[in-house]
Amino acid sequence: MADAYDRQLLLLGPKRNHLLELWEVQRYGSDSYGDADYVSIYGLPPATWYDKGIRLLGRTAVECTRDQLADAIARDIAKAARSAPKAPGITVIDPFAGSGNTLYWILRHVPQAQGVGFELDQQVFQLTNRNLSIVGLPVEIRHADYLAALTELSVADEELLIAFVAPPWGEALSASAGLDLLETTPPVSDVVDLLTQTFTNPLLFSIQVYERIEPASLAEVRRRFDWSALRIYDFSPKGQNHGLLLGTRGWRP
Ligand SMILES: C[S@@+](CC[C@H](N)C(=O)[O-])C[C@H]1O[C@@H](n2cnc3c(N)ncnc32)[C@H](O)[C@@H]1O
Repeated sequence: MADAYDRQLLLLGPKRNHLLELWEVQRYGSDSYGDADYVSIYGLPPATWYDKGIRLLGRTAVECTRDQLADAIARDIAKAARSAPKAPGITVIDPFAGSGNTLYWILRHVPQAQGVGFELDQQVFQLTNRNLSIVGLPVEIRHADYLAALTELSVADEELLIAFVAPPWGEALSASAGLDLLETTPPVSDVVDLLTQTFTNPLLFSIQVYERIEPASLAEVRRRFDWSALRIYDFSPKGQNHGLLLGTRGWRP
């Protein structure tokens, strides 16, 4: 029997750095989620984005925050941002940009913001830059490690800074304990600390999480915030849903 198009093959196996053909993207969707259109990104189903010349590596097809989820996350971010103190501007930063699809949706729901993303992997960076120019998203993606790039980023003093934090989960997601936010690569806690140490701006953190989260790691991240709220979406079978941890520093909704 042919290999199943699953997380193992695309993220960790031979297809990781392989440019997927349309049938492979659709096969991943149907083999893994019973939906050939599962990897819809930039508001488009795979057949449409592929036809426009948009391409993804195997790893990014698995890692990307697909439309249904990114749209929901972005709506919740926009709602929280509306209750922030009045700011002269808004910057959205995605230190782990991947496909850029989450940035795409956040900027759709917070259209007055300017966006910037960082991506470490050379191939992912090149594809994402090209893909975003095809969809016409005016966002800057820098080929950089988030650590160096964050410390070099300048954001005007009183702007609201929205950070979307979704580093690779790697071994941090286990069937028994759920997602350990201190074991992602890098740990979510380190990213939150770096942002709070680097910027004096009012901050809105948005962290992609999983339905089951290792409780001590959740508490460890939440204690860094002035206010936080956890939301789990209902798009997948019970136990397999993604969610969003919102947190603020310097203000409360
Ligand atoms: C889980 S994916 C993010 C997916 C993204 N939310 C999307 O919608 O496509 C994480 C991305 O972060 C990149 N990455 C990993 N470590 C990084 C680092 N230190 N600095 C910048 N990017 C990094 C990976 O190459 C990968 O593309």
